[in-house]
Amino acid sequence: MNILITGATSGIGKQVALDYAAEGHTVIACGRNTDVLAELEQRFPENIAAQRLDVTDADQTMQALSSYTDIDVVIMSAGVCEYVDIDRFEAAMFERVFNVNVFGMMRCVEALLPNLKRGSQLVLVGSTARLLPFTRAEAYGGSKAAMQYIARTLQVDLQPRGICVQTVSPGFVETPMTDANDFEMPMRVSVEFASDRIRKGIRKKATDITFPTTFGLFLKLMSRLPQAWQVALSKRMT
Ligand SMILES: NC(=O)c1ccc[n+]([C@@H]2O[C@H](COP(=O)([O-])OP(=O)(O)OC[C@H]3O[C@@H](n4cnc5c(N)ncnc54)[C@H](OP(=O)(O)O)[C@@H]3O)[C@@H](O)[C@H]2O)c1
Repeated sequence: MNILITGATSGIGKQVALDYAAEGHTVIACGRNTDVLAELEQRFPENIAAQRLDVTDADQTMQALSSYTDIDVVIMSAGVCEYVDIDRFEAAMFERVFNVNVFGMMRCVEALLPNLKRGSQLVLVGSTARLLPFTRAEAYGGSKAAMQYIARTLQVDLQPRGICVQTVSPGFVETPMTDANDFEMPMRVSVEFASDRIRKGIRKKATDITFPTTFGLFLKLMSRLPQAWQVALSKRMT
């Protein structure tokens, strides 16, 4: 398969890129970090082609991605996380987070969609953070909730074109993103585990790939409670 991955220079996206390359697939690895892109190409010269990409730059994204015509699977893993300081509330921070996690992803969809063929798969990496009002996660959780809605509607609108849209909803995964967290992260899994679950889900064309299972089920259940209960629960977790 030909697999294009954004956020391939770190964490989840990097592991998925390495695992697909090791299986013999062709991977187009996208990201801004040119050192890591070069390292990926060196490790798998036959299987990985690097593509420099900053998803916040609309023109560059269009130029970089619009010429790919034979992609089987697109995995959009590029993302950023910033937490709100409620005493110094900053709208610009929401703009930064949404600019990558939502608008950046849509810039990739805009560039790739005209050439996506029947039978291809479009995989949007979200987060279980969208499920509950976690403290300080207004921007990050909000961006992932927005993304999830967009993905669900794309599932409706791209089905007639034979394009399978899938979402990924990870719990905590050991990556540079979560290494920066200063709070307890229950059931945090390795990137190898995450990659395994994502690749299995892609193979099965699962609508939503949530892991780890128990953590995801717990949060999905909690998200069905009345809103006042969800708020009370999140306050207790704070
Ligand atoms: N780790 C977790 O526990 C967890 C849980 C739930 C969901 N997620 C989601 O999983 C995805 C991957 O997260 P991760 O933990 O693997 O994070 P990570 O290790 O910090 O990697 C983030 C990736 O996003 C890319 N990126 C960031 N800004 C970009 C930009 N402007 N243009 C292009 N690429 C950009 C980075 O590449 P460059 O710096 O090279 O551009 C990097 O490859 C994210 O969408 C995240 O929200 C992670």
